[in-house]
Amino acid sequence: MSYRVPFVDPRRHYQRLQPDIDAAIASCLSQGDLVYRRQLRDFEEHLAAFVGVKYAVGVNSGYHALHFALLGAGIGPGDEVITVAHTFVATVSAIVHARATPVLIDVGDDYNMDADRLEAAVTARTKAIVCVHLNGRMCDMERIRSVAAGHRLLVIEDAAQALGATFEGRCAGSLGVAGCFSFYPFKILGGFGDGGALTTDDRSLARMASLLRYNGEDRRTGEYHYHGYTALLDNVQAAVLDVKLRHLPAWIGHRRAIAAHYEAGLRGLPGIRLPHFGDERRVDVFQNYVIRTADRDSLREHLTRCGVETLAHWVKPMWMHPGLGLTNPGLDRTERLCREVLSLPLSAETTLDQVEYVVQCIRESVASRSVPAAEERPPRSHDSLSRAAGRHPAV
Ligand SMILES: Cc1ncc(COP(=O)(O)O)c(C=O)c1O
Repeated sequence: MSYRVPFVDPRRHYQRLQPDIDAAIASCLSQGDLVYRRQLRDFEEHLAAFVGVKYAVGVNSGYHALHFALLGAGIGPGDEVITVAHTFVATVSAIVHARATPVLIDVGDDYNMDADRLEAAVTARTKAIVCVHLNGRMCDMERIRSVAAGHRLLVIEDAAQALGATFEGRCAGSLGVAGCFSFYPFKILGGFGDGGALTTDDRSLARMASLLRYNGEDRRTGEYHYHGYTALLDNVQAAVLDVKLRHLPAWIGHRRAIAAHYEAGLRGLPGIRLPHFGDERRVDVFQNYVIRTADRDSLREHLTRCGVETLAHWVKPMWMHPGLGLTNPGLDRTERLCREVLSLPLSAETTLDQVEYVVQCIRESVASRSVPAAEERPPRSHDSLSRAAGRHPAV
């Protein structure tokens, strides 16, 4: 189906950057720069400077950034790692693949880890906290870092959705032992396929991640230091990402303007909660513009009929997927969010006219029925909501 307002618009995105992107790709191809070359190093250097850390290590996905951050931090069998379930599954899978145990806690009103629940989750086996800066908003790093310091825990930031977001002036990915980014095509900085990076000030962690991504091999000596992985960020992807990184500040400004426009149009609508949480310590970059309503599914259907593409992240709590083997941690808010959240179209290509149209459609839907406020409706079965949101196109 072709939407009047698509969630994202990859064709237009490419057209806007075409000369620079084509030149970057042509340069790689004509010079045979395909694997582990100058373009990768340049991008890593620019990314590290952008985030405000010493090292950035390009890998082939946000998942591998997380996995290597955990391995590099020494997390392994017998360790517990506290994180959230209101996240993309890769956050938890990385912990499981590091052979540690994920301990899932609930999120707060802003969809990020509820730091008030951390203390109760700490045990003698806890080694780390993986906080997830969801939807382009950073977690309360002051509280999280303070609990971590009190218990000598490491903090790893899942910043897959938060490149450029700040907390007290510091960028996501610079406040823990490692930051983990995804360059999945529909992220704030997206490649033309999978990609990711780990950021850190820790030299040995950066080195371990660089070896792990290349089957454990030190390229200078040929020595294999670990059983590693084939997980290098492709050179061509790095060249494209380097071009796009230059536009990132402008794109973040655009996202924030679009979010403000949504807010102006939707503020005060009964039964709709908006993602503006008003904390001056943070600058949100709005990877997703997530509204919340108890009548999410009918609003979504109405928007689809109007030609507005939306996404729901995530329609089923992670522990309800039997294949993941997670026990039900009893997280009320996480469970409720699965029924209530809806992401509206937002990308570097979204226009103010499109926002106005989306707002008009939402207003129509609200006017046509009295929408109960989020959280006021009794829970319902997930059976009718079994569609997997996955990560496509923009988790
Ligand atoms: C919060 C979060 N963590 C981790 C990931 C994993 O990144 P990737 O898809 O690049 O492996 C994603 C996105 O896909 C994400 O949104």
